[in-house]
Amino acid sequence: MHLPIRPRRNRKSAAIRALVRETTLTAADFVQPLFVQEGTQNDAIVSMPGVTRWSENSIVAEVRELAACGIQAIVLFPKIDDALKTSDAAECYNDHGLIPRVIRAIKQACPEMCVITDVALDPYNTDGHDGLVEKLADGSVKIANDATVEILCRQALCHARAGADIVSPSDMMDGRVAALRAALDAAQWEEVSILSYSAKYASAFYGPFRGALDSAPKAGDKKTYKMDPANAREAIREILLDEAQGADMLMVKPAGAYLDIIAKVRENTTLPIAAYQVSGEYLMIQSASAAGWLDRKAVILESLIAIKRAGADIILSYFAKEVAQWLRA
Ligand code: PBG
Repeated sequence: MHLPIRPRRNRKSAAIRALVRETTLTAADFVQPLFVQEGTQNDAIVSMPGVTRWSENSIVAEVRELAACGIQAIVLFPKIDDALKTSDAAECYNDHGLIPRVIRAIKQACPEMCVITDVALDPYNTDGHDGLVEKLADGSVKIANDATVEILCRQALCHARAGADIVSPSDMMDGRVAALRAALDAAQWEEVSILSYSAKYASAFYGPFRGALDSAPKAGDKKTYKMDPANAREAIREILLDEAQGADMLMVKPAGAYLDIIAKVRENTTLPIAAYQVSGEYLMIQSASAAGWLDRKAVILESLIAIKRAGADIILSYFAKEVAQWLRA
C-alpha cells in the first residue's frame, strides 16, 4: 500500500506514545473526599465498599498519609448524629460542631493541606434535602431558596473561622455564590475561595453517598434544584452565573456520564474546572472489578484520564489516594 500518512508510527513504542501523549494525571490533580463521624470508631461504609468513615480521632492520621502520597487537597463530608439534626439545620453553623473541630485538627497537624468543605444542609436537617424544607398542605415539599442561602452563608462563615481554604456549595440554590462571596468578604474572609458545584445534576449516581451519610431525602426528590440530566445549555447558563457572582472554580458533577458537559464548560470559561467522579461511578468500577469482570487499575486510570481529557483541571475521586500511590510507584 502506498500510504505516506501512517498514524500508527506515533504509537509504535512506549517511548513514542509517552512523547505524544496529550493528557497526563498527577497527584496534584486530585481532591480526596473524606467522610468523618463523631467519636473514636472508624466504620466501613456498607454502601461504598473500600471507603472508610473516619472517626474524628483518626482522620488526621489519614490526612498525613494522603499528604505523604502527594495529595494536596481534601473535601470533608460529615455524618451527623441523628440527635443533632433539626428542620433548620442549625448544627451546620455550630463553631464547636464536628466539621469545624476536624478542620482545626487537620490544619494544626497539616497546615499545607488544602481543606475544602461542603456547603449544603442535607447532612444536618431531618429532611435530607440540601435546603430548608417547607411542607405544603398537600403533603408535598418545597425547598426554600432564599432562606436556605442565609443558612449557607452562616455555614460557610463557620467553616472559614475554623480554617477552611475553600468552601464548596453543593446545594444548587439560586444566588448562593454571590451571597457567600458577600458574606465572606464582609467578615474579612476575602482569601477564602469558592468552588461552586455549578452544574450539579439530579443524578441517581449519588445513591451510595447518601447511604454513607444517612442523608437521603425523606420526602420528594432533588429535581427542583439539581439540574435535569437531559440538559446541556443549562449548564452553561449556570456556570456563567456562578462566574459572574465571583466563583473561583466551577464544578461539573457527576463526571463520567457528563464528559460532554465538562468539554462544553471548558469552552465557555477560563476558570479552573473541577469534576466529581461520584459514589455511583466509584461503585460501578469497584463492584465490576471485585467480580473479576474488569481490570480494576486500568479502568480506574482510563476513567480518570477521560475526565481530564474532557477538560477538567481538578478531579474529586474516591480513588485519589490509591491513584497517587500508583503514580509515584
Ligand atoms: C450533598 C452532596 C452530595 C454529594 C456531594 N455533596 C449528595 C447529593 O447531592 O445528593 C454526592 C457525592 C457522591 O455521590 O459521591 N449536597
